[in-house]
Amino acid sequence: MKSFDVAAVVTGGASGLGEATTRALAAKGAAVTILDLQEDRGQALAAELGGHTTFVRTDVTDEASVQAAIADATGKDRPLRIAVQCAGIAWAQRTVGRGGEPHDLGAFSRTVMVNLVGTFNVLRLAAAAMSATEPDEDGERGVIVNTASIAAYDGQIGQIAYAASKGGVVGMTLPAARDLATIGVRVCTIAPGLVDTPMMAGMPEEQRQQLASGIPFPKRLAQPSDYAQLALAIVEHGYLNGEVIRMDGALRMAPR
Ligand SMILES: NC(=O)c1ccc[n+]([C@@H]2O[C@H](COP(=O)([O-])OP(=O)(O)OC[C@H]3O[C@@H](n4cnc5c(N)ncnc54)[C@H](O)[C@@H]3O)[C@@H](O)[C@H]2O)c1
Repeated sequence: MKSFDVAAVVTGGASGLGEATTRALAAKGAAVTILDLQEDRGQALAAELGGHTTFVRTDVTDEASVQAAIADATGKDRPLRIAVQCAGIAWAQRTVGRGGEPHDLGAFSRTVMVNLVGTFNVLRLAAAAMSATEPDEDGERGVIVNTASIAAYDGQIGQIAYAASKGGVVGMTLPAARDLATIGVRVCTIAPGLVDTPMMAGMPEEQRQQLASGIPFPKRLAQPSDYAQLALAIVEHGYLNGEVIRMDGALRMAPR
């Protein structure tokens, strides 16, 4: 896609990777709709960026909620062509705990619901809206960037729910790209390693440094801007499709 003079939706756009992507897209001139549960942060970011950036409080697992957010994006003065999906939650619990107790089934379901079903919900509704637009000069109507995790491949002890949910996002990428080829919509997924987001900021400095030292190169946590840069590169690169890209400094996570 050559022009960022389009409408975009960013899920989880009020924090971390989504916030960085919202900022990067808005800086390029896109009209971004932020979809997030965090009303205060989302409203503040939209107000700060001004112009064509809007916030719609959205639960990605809820059909009507996402439809309302997509309607905000399609109501702007340019076609909806970009959807970047960063909404997600983490959950850590072993399949069977030290005391013999089984993994909480509700927590497993909730993690899959937000990370996998939520991603599919936005993907299908955003793609349907993109299908109604006129294609650009390359026949392209849009691009969807999902977020998995290297846990989809190297899930650690206690990451079974999270890894399963992200494995689903990885598995969905190629069939989604194949399904949406007929309407000229590309689909790629980014599988980040360790990124310094609000989630990580709560960690003691020593633990952060220990995590960083295990990364082959560069020996630092990724920054949200690294993710945003890759998301925008995928948007611009019209031949990338159906692919999952690890962004991890060559990190392969150990069992624990
Ligand atoms: N930070 C990392 O190291 C890392 C690594 C690999 C993958 N990821 C993935 O990247 C994505 C973004 O993570 P982050 O670190 O920026 O986290 P974050 O917590 O800073 O941001 C996630 C955002 O998603 C929103 N959200 C959660 N559930 C939602 C729902 N049902 N509907 C709408 N919004 C919802 C939250 O309100 C939050 O603003 C997640 O999918 C996460 O699993 C993060």
